[in-house]
Amino acid sequence: MAIERTLCIIKPDGVRNQNIGNIVAMIQAAGFRILGLKLTRISPAVAGEFYGVHKERPFYGELVNFMSSGAIVPIALEKENAIADWRALIGSTDPAEAAEGTIRKKYATSKGENAVHGSDSVENGINEVAFFFAESELINNA
Ligand code: CMP
Repeated sequence: MAIERTLCIIKPDGVRNQNIGNIVAMIQAAGFRILGLKLTRISPAVAGEFYGVHKERPFYGELVNFMSSGAIVPIALEKENAIADWRALIGSTDPAEAAEGTIRKKYATSKGENAVHGSDSVENGINEVAFFFAESELINNA
């Protein structure tokens, strides 16, 4: 299997609910390498750019408001099969449908406030990591 990158974002609800440590522990227990991690905040304009593919969706405004409502923690992750493995670890978008033991089952409260983000393809994993991190900021001891 190929080594892939995926972008985790601990969303404002995950930060507010003091779940940064719990989520990072699950990331490490699952064998992902953390290449970069920062506590930051994004403006509505930057959130809108990041979620540009969802511009036409009815929840776009709510998503942009929420993602710019407080601190977030983008985390650049790498491992074999990272895209699928990260999506399996985070669980379904709607926590009510998320499997037992997944991050969203444990820490999300709704479809919008769902604790974490994950990239949905290999190409988006590369692009989304680059959205938040310069290549020179990433630490790769592999
Ligand atoms: P994420 O994986 O970050 O990518 C797109 C986000 O849109 C998704 O997680 C959800 O947080 C959000 N989203 C999807 N469906 C809805 C919805 N029906 N209402 C609000 N937000 C949604």
